Amino acid sequence: MNIHVLTLFPEMFQGPFQESIVGRAMERGLVSIQIHNIRDYAHDKHRMADDYPFGGGGGMVLKPEPLFLGVEDVKSRIADESSPQRAEDAQVVLLSPQGEVLTQEIVKEMTSHPDIIFICGHYEGVDERVREHLIDREISIGDYVLSGGEIPAMVVVDSLVRLIPGVVGDTESLEDDSHSSGLIQFPQYTRPSEYRGWPVPPVLLSGNHQEVHLWRRQQSLRRTQRQRPDLLARAPLSPQERLFLEHLGE
Ligand SMILES: C[S@@+](CC[C@H](N)C(=O)[O-])C[C@H]1O[C@@H](n2cnc3c(N)ncnc32)[C@H](O)[C@@H]1O
Repeated sequence: MNIHVLTLFPEMFQGPFQESIVGRAMERGLVSIQIHNIRDYAHDKHRMADDYPFGGGGGMVLKPEPLFLGVEDVKSRIADESSPQRAEDAQVVLLSPQGEVLTQEIVKEMTSHPDIIFICGHYEGVDERVREHLIDREISIGDYVLSGGEIPAMVVVDSLVRLIPGVVGDTESLEDDSHSSGLIQFPQYTRPSEYRGWPVPPVLLSGNHQEVHLWRRQQSLRRTQRQRPDLLARAPLSPQERLFLEHLGE
């Protein structure tokens, strides 16, 4: 997967993309992440990427020119390195608190795109013509407002990279992750088997894989009902599991 990020603050990406899973995935060539400075595409006298809003009001708005030129430049590089078709198919994503709220389902769907171009807004946001004529998708990381799209871009990129085959060694752990199966994850324990008088549930030490699997599934169901009951309506559950949940409420 090839990821491009257009931002006014390229330095912000240095730490998060060099460390841990994303850093290792880049080192191993499983993902390429290129950061582009929006200001490099601002060609007016003062290289201004933002300007005052028409109609007045506080704050500044990101101008359309540098964003259109930036996306066009990235697409022409994709065309040169891969093919014109790949450039045309690249998904252009605006990070914005007005977009569809990111879910694991959206993350999975996005991994089908080999090339993704993220646009990080700042200040009061971006000129509306960017939304209307440049982007394919608008993604929010939650119903709150951050100062810029950089942290949201890191959040989305991290969630995407984890799903690239080979990035996380144990695919079973991905399947068990919260939200992968529509539920939240069961409780996890590690050594010691007793800490300050609090023992690990005996079933986890039993070595009986079938019982461990059943216990974990039931714990996921219990937790989801207690902490995120909204998820249960859409979760793919068996009739026995629905019955189990009904009995829990009694
Ligand atoms: C201060 S916000 C602008 C908010 C804008 N005035 C509005 O009300 O929609 C600046 C930039 O931060 C990013 N941003 C802020 N909150 C976000 C969120 N919840 N999800 C994704 N991006 C966000 C967007 O790129 C946005 O353009």
